[in-house]
Amino acid sequence: MSSYVTRKTPGDTDWFVHDRFGMFIHFGLYSMPARHEWIKSMEKIPDEKYDLYFKHFNPDLLDAKDWARQAKAAGMKYAVLTTKHHEGFCLFDTKYTDYNVMNTPYGKDIVREYVDAFRAEGLKIGFYYSLLDWHHPDYTLDHCHPRRDDEGWEKYDEGRDMHRYAKYMRDQITELLTNYGKIDILWFDFSWEGEPEFERTHPGIRGGKGKDDWEAEELVALARKLQPGIMIDNRTGLEQDIYTPEQYQMQEWVKHPETGELVNWEACQTFSGSWGYFRDEMSWKTPEMLINMLVRTVSLGGNLLMNVGPTSRGYFDHRAEKALSVYADWMRVNGRSIYGCTMAEPEFKVPNGCFATQSADGKRLYVHLVEYPYAFLELRGFAGKVEYAQFLHDGSEILFTEGKSEHISMGRTEATDLLVLTIPQICPDVITPVIELILK
Ligand code: GLC
Repeated sequence: MSSYVTRKTPGDTDWFVHDRFGMFIHFGLYSMPARHEWIKSMEKIPDEKYDLYFKHFNPDLLDAKDWARQAKAAGMKYAVLTTKHHEGFCLFDTKYTDYNVMNTPYGKDIVREYVDAFRAEGLKIGFYYSLLDWHHPDYTLDHCHPRRDDEGWEKYDEGRDMHRYAKYMRDQITELLTNYGKIDILWFDFSWEGEPEFERTHPGIRGGKGKDDWEAEELVALARKLQPGIMIDNRTGLEQDIYTPEQYQMQEWVKHPETGELVNWEACQTFSGSWGYFRDEMSWKTPEMLINMLVRTVSLGGNLLMNVGPTSRGYFDHRAEKALSVYADWMRVNGRSIYGCTMAEPEFKVPNGCFATQSADGKRLYVHLVEYPYAFLELRGFAGKVEYAQFLHDGSEILFTEGKSEHISMGRTEATDLLVLTIPQICPDVITPVIELILK
């Protein structure tokens, strides 16, 4: 059994740390301008201009069943959909604001379609819910707000009451956790410190917002009352079930900032830079990056939540489909090195250029050959511990010797703990080949 113990938290995380891989879906009015989900803030788009997107929102080609099929084929075991992003537009039938999908030309509850389709494919269901809301009449100014530099910004907050907004969030969370069956993850986003420069130029306005603004204790307690086993992230500013590093590659298992305990964590990443559909973005990750991000994350005991931003017509564009097919091809034959796996035990150190994962029951170790080592791989500390070795993708045997290896013109390496795998000179036609070691 794995020797790694993570900090206990209230939510049901057992399925999560087994399944490892999920789909993030960022969809909303911002999919129409198609140049980042923060576009309203980045370009300080006036509300009346932005409302054109609300007026014309009609993802007529949306087929949530197709989204679910692609997620499942890619090997993703859960999904998290933006039910409301910072723009404040709700993808669900809510009675607490008219700024929702039922009042657009599309006129159907997208959250309902998502839940039904992904549940039918056996995927666990997650809801992303933005704590920021650039549309709500009680949400106050801060340094992310699109209205932060408008003429008369000084008076923007007059009549606004964040307590009323916090109640609005509790009412909507009640709808989301009552009307759509069992929800497995609630993914709040996000809390942040203000920027001194903003607060210097905007006297009297706090730049950031955090747990007290959200009345987070009450919000989290409500969610847990409505869905007792639900997993909740840490972005209300309250530590909950998972830590959520974003858009960068961790180099170690995430630890609790105070106690140093290992925690359950999930890295969220994008195929390109933007979370929402971004037509002209050219920073799409290569197939090798996509696979190695997943492998590296699981080799450090984490989950990967990989994002898709559907077009405003409702489908995944060809670049997203191609990226998902990269995962589908790789996971079809190598998923065993991801599901139910975690960081390898400390005794199993693999050379640079390799990432190791180990099955939670300790019986199988997976060596991911990110840099293909040509002809052989020396593993110190493995001698006497491996019963059988094979490439995972095609199940072909990998022969090995123990105790010494012959280095032409370099003499030999001799070590009692040495195990040497003999592998083909030519890298197999698979991204990051995986060697499965069945341990004694
Ligand atoms: C950041 C971005 C937000 C995105 C989130 C995903 O908070 O601001 O747009 O939804 O990351 O983790």
